[in-house]
Amino acid sequence: MPRFSRITGTGSKLPERRVSNDELAAELAGRGIETSDAWIVERTGIRARHFAAPDVTSSDLAAEAARHAMDAAGVQAADIDLVIVATSTPDMVFPSTACIVQRKLGIQQGAAFDLQAVCAGFIYALSVADSMIRSGTARRALVIGAEVFSRILDFSDRTTCVLFGDGAGAVVLEASDEPGILATRLHADGRHAEVLCTPGHVSGGQVIGRPLLHMDGQAVFKLAVHALDHVAREVLEAAGRQASDVDWLVPHQANIRIMQGTARKLKLPMERMVVTVDEHGNTSAASIPLALDVAVRSGKIQRGDTLMLEGVGGGFTWGAALIDY
Ligand code: UT7
Repeated sequence: MPRFSRITGTGSKLPERRVSNDELAAELAGRGIETSDAWIVERTGIRARHFAAPDVTSSDLAAEAARHAMDAAGVQAADIDLVIVATSTPDMVFPSTACIVQRKLGIQQGAAFDLQAVCAGFIYALSVADSMIRSGTARRALVIGAEVFSRILDFSDRTTCVLFGDGAGAVVLEASDEPGILATRLHADGRHAEVLCTPGHVSGGQVIGRPLLHMDGQAVFKLAVHALDHVAREVLEAAGRQASDVDWLVPHQANIRIMQGTARKLKLPMERMVVTVDEHGNTSAASIPLALDVAVRSGKIQRGDTLMLEGVGGGFTWGAALIDY
């Protein structure tokens, strides 16, 4: 049985269309909604996000991100025996987006399934894939976060529609006897289901309810800061490491103020945190693997670095992973 699972390649994909705050504010003004670049930057750190074209799906972005990760790892479709896609914006009710990605990549063996933990989805997916690899159920996994959140945004609600964007990130995770993922910790508390949700379900061929994102931003903010600090300490303890051992914090990119709060509580300087929220906005399950890939490809993150990945999202769900990269 392998002792560890290890990230051997990363990849990402952003839709072509970059929408600056000014561009979004102008579009919203046309609908009678008032916002500004200054408000969005000050409250969130977001300067732009990417929106997918109407015919682009989560599986399109996921497959492209996965191809880049597979190229980086030097693996082929025939080598992959597990595909997990974390998404809240699947292509269809069923089959899973993971099965569609599997077909797009020409993978014909192993398991494929979606995982729903909203913005904590990638951490959940990484933890599940790590467990499956260490138990011998899989040897080489594609772990993907992919979203087209623009499809579920309520563009009449300025408190949410300025925050989110579309994109995908992926890693190849392989069985290894060398250290890789050192520990993961996952949590959920369904009592807070309504603070961040997209209600609605399908019945009799109709969508029942209003399937647009709803969020009590301040409630989420308070829950997030506490949950992230707690799980960060928990995963460090599980791995027998200190916060000072962390070379790079790769947090879910929701709001720069939450990210700064987490770094401050861990006494980590901001220079050791990967920040992409300014250019990506909040891409939910895609945000952590997108940030990871940007930092790997820019040369910030180097082999041998210790990484802490952490995320929090609707559910309420949250988790962290400590990794020797
Ligand atoms: O991945 C899931 C995790 N989600 C999150 O992490 C979100 C967590 N929450 C947040 O990031 C913040 O709570 C927000 C960015 C959503 C809001 O920031 P805030 O500092 O909590 O602002 P607020 O809700 O207290 O609103 C302050 C003011 C209000 O006006 P009044 O009542 O003071 O007159 C809002 O109506 O800002 C107003 N406002 C806006 N103004 C311009 C809210 N949204 C906008 C906007 N443009 N887009």
